[in-house]
Amino acid sequence: MSEPNGGPGGGVLIVDFGAQYCQLIARRVRELGVYSRITVPERAMFTFAHMRPDAVILSGGPRSVYAHDAPELDAAILQQGVPVLGICYGLQWLAQHTGGEVTPAQAGAEYGRTELQVVDATGFLAGVRDRSTVWMSHGDKVARLGPGFQVLGKSGPCPFAVVADRKRGFYGLQFHPEVAHTEDGGRMLKNFVLDVARCRADWHPGNISETKIAAVRELVGAGEVVLGLSGGVDSSVAAVLIHRAIGTRLHCVFVDNGLLRHGERQGVEALFRDHYHMDLEVVDASERFLGELKGVTDPEQKRKIIGRIFVEVFRAKAQQKRGARFLGQGTLYPDVIESVAAHGGATSVIKSHHNVGGLPQDLDMTLVEPLRDLFKDEVRTIGRELGLPSALVDRQPFPGPGLAVRCLGEITRAKLASLRDADRIVREEIEQRDLHRNLWQWFAVHVPQKSVGVKGDARVYEDVCVLRVVSSQDAMTADWELLPHDVLKRISNRILNEVKGYARVCLDISSKPPATIEWE
Ligand code: XMP
Repeated sequence: MSEPNGGPGGGVLIVDFGAQYCQLIARRVRELGVYSRITVPERAMFTFAHMRPDAVILSGGPRSVYAHDAPELDAAILQQGVPVLGICYGLQWLAQHTGGEVTPAQAGAEYGRTELQVVDATGFLAGVRDRSTVWMSHGDKVARLGPGFQVLGKSGPCPFAVVADRKRGFYGLQFHPEVAHTEDGGRMLKNFVLDVARCRADWHPGNISETKIAAVRELVGAGEVVLGLSGGVDSSVAAVLIHRAIGTRLHCVFVDNGLLRHGERQGVEALFRDHYHMDLEVVDASERFLGELKGVTDPEQKRKIIGRIFVEVFRAKAQQKRGARFLGQGTLYPDVIESVAAHGGATSVIKSHHNVGGLPQDLDMTLVEPLRDLFKDEVRTIGRELGLPSALVDRQPFPGPGLAVRCLGEITRAKLASLRDADRIVREEIEQRDLHRNLWQWFAVHVPQKSVGVKGDARVYEDVCVLRVVSSQDAMTADWELLPHDVLKRISNRILNEVKGYARVCLDISSKPPATIEWE
């Protein structure tokens, strides 16, 4: 059930050479109303045969086309009769396989912003402004073009910034059109996707709900589905879609791990049980989670314990629902993309992520993942379309391990109670004023560092509450944001006066990187 809009055929296949911006290319294409899919070079021909795309985009990548470990892509991709756009490394690969020559770094590497000189403003560069800014980031460069190619644009030391063999439909950009720094990059992608490749612009996440619902119905047949509901956007939208498809044969399980925010469990019950009339079982496992977390202070150990218990609790529940052979999950496209980064390399583990979608496959159930070809913003669009309230669809991300990653050191019920109250105040003050529209996350953190204060006329020696407010596009990077002075003042006053356990409220002014959004 992975194909959009009812079946294979059409769209853009993006070959990931290990680019930092590969997902961005996929999103830009979808924003044009055209379905896109990412694959790794080794599987490109296989995916091509299955997908039958209207165009191929070759992404950038960190290697040199001459390196012994350069990604292997079957040059037959150029013989399929569809237009090909090479970006950065993709252009160099294209040049190398069409009789051109690529020379290594030093001899003219370019990084950062540079000016584009448009040589031919028709077709692919139609509407692209001469002297507009483009974003370069490359070591190697094309030194000579193969037969049939012409130059459409130059930039400073780069004579082959935009090239094309119009007859064969091969295009190349030495810079990155997908990043915001390239002023007319969107126009170039649009020209390639809609005019050169003539892709159908019929991809819209809002109008695919019915296709998704039909696909779930077909997959599940008369069977039953168990779904771990976290109350987050992804599992909630997945639940509503699956519920539309199979009604009471969907069984939702919500695990209360004792690490939830104020009102979270009640909110899930009110929406899914009372409003949608779903079969929802709430499992109160808080004793077990908090019991096993007792005395544990190491962040990674905490995360691992929480992830393990969640799986055990959920597994036991799923097995009780004996008729259910299917496991519903809110898995998103970024979790399943066949990217080079995901496939290998020794990327260091910053944090062991845990969420409801991270269940092991050995549950021996067939997965039902209606969102697995969608990006987060597309899932939000579907959620709105399905009538989910804005409070849920637009809510801030909340990590699988819950308040545990915001309650530093050993977790105790008393600390959690203080944190929960402080977090409620932060949310109330920001959301009432509608200040959260441009924010990614806004929450409180409990820091078990005692400091002296005075409350009433008495000396207190209590912990620190930290306010964390960040903006971000995708959580990969984040900026701290400053709230208006009066709002900060009110949040601080309320926390110090209404919440037990804090002698001080501090503001976190760290960006990511080097800090992370969550504290643990
Ligand atoms: P960091 O703290 O790594 O967080 O900058 C990036 C984003 O991921 C969220 N987060 C998690 N989400 N399970 C999740 O589902 C997790 O274990 C987890 N840890 C962090 C975090 O809230 C932020 O949006």
